Amino acid sequence: MTTIIIIPTFNEAENIAKLLRDIVVAAPDVHVLVVDDSSTDGTPDIIHRFTLENRHIHLLVRPNKTGLGDAYRAGFAWAIERAYEAVVQMDADGSHRVADLVTLLDVANSFDVVIGSRWVKGGKIMNWPAKRYLLSKLGNIYGRLMLRIAIKDATAGFRVYSRQALENAQILNSTSQGYVFQLENSVRVSEAKLSVQEIPITFVEREFGESKMNASIVKEAMLKVTFWGLRGRILGHNLFIK
Ligand code: GDD
Ligand code: MN
Repeated sequence: MTTIIIIPTFNEAENIAKLLRDIVVAAPDVHVLVVDDSSTDGTPDIIHRFTLENRHIHLLVRPNKTGLGDAYRAGFAWAIERAYEAVVQMDADGSHRVADLVTLLDVANSFDVVIGSRWVKGGKIMNWPAKRYLLSKLGNIYGRLMLRIAIKDATAGFRVYSRQALENAQILNSTSQGYVFQLENSVRVSEAKLSVQEIPITFVEREFGESKMNASIVKEAMLKVTFWGLRGRILGHNLFIK
C-alpha cells in the first residue's frame, strides 16, 4: 500500500522537525506532504531542508492562510493526482503521536476510514485545559446529535482514508474552512456508508507554539452544524452525498 501523510502547518517551526524525524524512523516507507500556509516563523525553510535530504518528504506552500479545510483539500488533491492508496491526516504539533500513527496504519488496510479517537474507550487527552476539554466534548455531542452520526470522535483530525474513500465521500467537494471540516467529512463518510474504525489514541496537547483554534472557527462550526442539522431534518435526505 502506498501511503502519504498530509500535515497542515501554520507557524510550527518548534514542532515540525521533530515530527518529521520521528515519522521517518517509525514509518520509513510512508511519504509525507506538508501543506504550509506561508508561515512567517521559518516553518517552510525547515521543511524544505528535509525535502532535499529525503525524497519521501514533500512541501506544498500555499500563498495565504485560508484555513484548515482549504489546506487539506489542496493536500488531498495532490495525493489523489499521484495515486496514493492511503491518505493520512495528522497535526504537526505533536498532539498526534507517532506511536498511534503506527497503530492506525496497521489496520488501515481493513477499513475505508480509520480514525484516531479520543472519545472511545481507551482514548485519552493529556494536558488540555478544562475549557478546551469541554468544548471538544460538547462539540462532539452536539455534532453527533444534530447530524446523526455514529462516529464518537467526529471532530478528530487524525485519520486514514483510502483513496477510494476520499472519492466516494466526495471529500474534495467539502466546503468547510475551519475545524468543522472534520465534522463535515464525518457526515460525508457516514452518508457514503463507508466502513469506519475508531482506534483509541492518546492526544497530547502541544508543548510548543499555539493552537490556531479561535472564535471564528468555533462560530463557523456552531452555525454549520445547526444549519446542516435542521436542513437534514426538513429535507429528510442526505446532506452531501446524492
Ligand atoms: N496550513 C494550515 N492552515 N494549517 C493549519 C491551519 C491553517 O489555516 N490551521 C491550523 N493548522 C494546522 C496546525 O499548524 C496544526 O498542525 C494542525 O493544523 C492542528 O491545528 P491546532 O491549532 O494545533 O489544532 P488544535 O490542537 O487546536 O485542534 C485539534 O483538535 C481539533 C478538534 O478536535 C486538531 O486535531 C484538529 O484537527 C481538530 O479538528
Ligand atoms: Mn494542536
